[in-house]
Amino acid sequence: MKNDLLAIKKSLSTILPEKRFYHTLGVEAVSFSLAARYESNTNQAALAGLLHDLARCFPDPELLKQCDAYHLPVSEVERRNPYLLHGKLGAYQAKEVYGITDSNMLSAIAYHTTGKPDMNLLEKIIFTADYIEPNRSGKHIPDLDEIRSLAFHDIDQAVYRILDNTLKYLESGTQEIDPLTKEAYNFYKQKINPGSC
Ligand SMILES: [Fe+2]
Ligand SMILES: [Fe+2]
Repeated sequence: MKNDLLAIKKSLSTILPEKRFYHTLGVEAVSFSLAARYESNTNQAALAGLLHDLARCFPDPELLKQCDAYHLPVSEVERRNPYLLHGKLGAYQAKEVYGITDSNMLSAIAYHTTGKPDMNLLEKIIFTADYIEPNRSGKHIPDLDEIRSLAFHDIDQAVYRILDNTLKYLESGTQEIDPLTKEAYNFYKQKINPGSC
């Protein structure tokens, strides 16, 4: 399939459940806007935003089965929490099904769930847009409007706040934390506040 936003939207509307589809459109719009704000490629950002949750709705056994079938590396944490694999599998499908070859777009899709240290601009845009898109509710996310505003002023600060919220949320429950998320948190904590340890 060509990298055509409308054609991809039509395709996604037949694959994703309604709620996930609207989330996807929200991430597309915010990714486009953040790319414009940071003078980056708006089309690439919109496309990566549209495709980021391509594999989000597969059941856990299917995520594992497909990752194994395509020889995608699966860590121990991912094997215990297959939900974490939807970025990696989504990037694989974006390439194979939708013909995306740009390594920054594929990486932004692959790492949108966990984040990682020293993300490039597109990776930060997709990671942030996923968290702040308009369908997300401030009832469940502390300081969401503040983070939304911050994203358009200082994206590194926004990434840090999202990672901080995410770790606090995960630590308060039973879900396991991917080590990459902790590494990303430590990186951005140091970046926005040099000298802290
Ligand atoms: Fe996701
Ligand atoms: Fe998402």
